[in-house]
Amino acid sequence: MVWELLAPQLRQYLDTRVPPRPAEMQAMEAYARETRFPIVGPAAGNFCYLLARLIRARRVFEMGSGFGYSTAWFARAVQENGGGTVFHVVWDEELSRRARKHLNTLGFEDVVQYHVGEAVETLSRVEGPFDLIFNDIDKEAYPKSLPVITEKLRPGGVLIVDNMFWQGRIFDDADRSATTQGVRDLTRMISSDPGWISSIVPIRDGLLVAYRDGGNT
Ligand SMILES: C[S@@+](CC[C@H](N)C(=O)[O-])C[C@H]1O[C@@H](n2cnc3c(N)ncnc32)[C@H](O)[C@@H]1O
Repeated sequence: MVWELLAPQLRQYLDTRVPPRPAEMQAMEAYARETRFPIVGPAAGNFCYLLARLIRARRVFEMGSGFGYSTAWFARAVQENGGGTVFHVVWDEELSRRARKHLNTLGFEDVVQYHVGEAVETLSRVEGPFDLIFNDIDKEAYPKSLPVITEKLRPGGVLIVDNMFWQGRIFDDADRSATTQGVRDLTRMISSDPGWISSIVPIRDGLLVAYRDGGNT
């Protein structure tokens, strides 16, 4: 289903509120447009950057990093927060190589660590805890990712999940596909768990922002 969730005017307005990006990031945006590669885009990317700055994130784990566009926003935040590590994780070697080229050009070689592999499995293997985890993997794997994320995110940490509207498919009761069900299930799992305080922010395709409640930590 092709479905423009936000009115094009509103979407364009939100994207154009974001300050100009470096030339390399603009080239990444242009490449995504030309090849129809699904990146988070300026408004959602900038919002991720804002959240990472707000919680002073130094350790970020990204699940499903593509060619590194969303990674660039997190890397900028971590660098400005005083340095740390952003895990770039994708199962495609070529995308990982492309990301490294872009992110090195942007000056993030000291911040980004590259892993080629399945993201949930990789997260389960690396040492936590993380201040922030960003989830943008294949949607049918969303539910099974949650227990691993919960284990690796520090109390007081933030989880961001993309595509919570799934281009409007979640509103179609006849759509029982594994991807749509994956988005619905994750939404239900988080919103019904008292250990999470969450909200879905209607930027682009819907970003879930969830705070892992940990008292005053
Ligand atoms: C939607 S794109 C992400 C784009 C990136 N987050 C951005 O906004 O710039 C998702 C990427 O993650 C990869 N991917 C999907 N599921 C994955 C998984 N379970 N493990 C590793 N990579 C995955 C896809 O092949 C694709 O390259």
